[in-house]
Amino acid sequence: MPTDPIAAATHADPYPYYAALREGPPLAWNEKLRAWVASRADVIEQVLQAHGALRVRPVAEPVPSAIVGSPAGEVFGHLVRMNDGAAHQAHRPALQRALAGLDMDAVYASALQVAQRVQQQEQPLSDTLFSIPVQSVAHLLGFADDALPQVDRWMRDFVACLSPLSTPEQLQHANTAASELMARFETLAARNAPRHGTLLAAVLAEGSGDAPLSRSLLANLAGLLSQTCDATAGLVGNSLIALMREASLLPSARTRSGLQAIVEETARHDASVQNTRRFAAQAVTIAGTDVAAGDTVLVLLASANRDPAFNAEPDRFMPLRERRRMLGFGHGMHACPGQALACTLAAASLHTLLQQHAAGLEAQRLGGWSYRPSVNGRIPVFH
Ligand code: HEM
Repeated sequence: MPTDPIAAATHADPYPYYAALREGPPLAWNEKLRAWVASRADVIEQVLQAHGALRVRPVAEPVPSAIVGSPAGEVFGHLVRMNDGAAHQAHRPALQRALAGLDMDAVYASALQVAQRVQQQEQPLSDTLFSIPVQSVAHLLGFADDALPQVDRWMRDFVACLSPLSTPEQLQHANTAASELMARFETLAARNAPRHGTLLAAVLAEGSGDAPLSRSLLANLAGLLSQTCDATAGLVGNSLIALMREASLLPSARTRSGLQAIVEETARHDASVQNTRRFAAQAVTIAGTDVAAGDTVLVLLASANRDPAFNAEPDRFMPLRERRRMLGFGHGMHACPGQALACTLAAASLHTLLQQHAAGLEAQRLGGWSYRPSVNGRIPVFH
């Protein structure tokens, strides 16, 4: 059993532990983490709908103290993901509409092309899990093909600052990466007309049209890459693990619809974002429990997906589930606007990886895997 709900995110099999938590109180106080823990789907929906009282950042620390005042801190401070109220509303509708307007057939086709080039970079499989989706989104945004590997490296450096586990050296790299990325986005957006059909052109068309673009919108464009990075790498890696565990799924992985179904069931069954947090800006009562101002609530999204009151036979991996319900992409005001994009990118990544690795899946399974150190991401590293 994991030692606590944070350790569960990277545990070999956290699901029996989550099941035991769901048998407990709706909100359980965890003294070690000094946080309330929500594990049932109905309670998690209530927590994520209580936007007024429960915020995405602590009121006293809108930007983590380790990066406040730095280039990485500047980007972090602008992200809609990390803000509530007016700052959240400023860009969220434009990002949401631009992502909703993507043509997923075109996204799939372009991700396959990017994936072919990434495969030629000859890096370990565990890194390719990141590179295909990140470079695909960079391509969608409008970066030139030869810039993609560099944008990918900066993004990997930048996302390290989002984790409380990062070292001072990683934070330093994250700052360099944040400055470089902001400069590149500025150049890209300053072109007279960003390439037609790009995600950047779509965001600009949805936005206020102000030129030059605000630092805040530029940061949120970079945010589309950072939101893609760890979460989609985890989804691709966990889908591969699902195929390693159940070889009978392999025939259905030969079609795009089969791949899509495997990826979507993986997102439910073995979520890459296992938890998120909320911070009480004022006192609030959730499922009969009083949460005081200043308290933290840890929200176990991956547990909700396995709640039998939410999905029938939740522990079975069923790509053709009739009514799949999912909280792994969040819920309520901050719900992920990139869910369809993420699943399409993951299906294209899986298609490409299987072409090269299908014959070696059994050897990979025997070699085993562990999970990258993280407080909420479930991203495998294959041995
Ligand atoms: C498997 C991949 C992904 C997973 C599991 C995932 C999951 C999530 C979750 C759980 C949240 C809400 C966090 C919270 O409420 O505390 C979120 C927010 C967000 N995601 Fe995703 N995401 C994924 C991929 C993407 C992609 C590809 C994009 C866009 C390119 C994206 C863009 C965003 C944005 C902009 C937000 C903030 C929304 C807001 O706060 O209004 N995500 N994501």
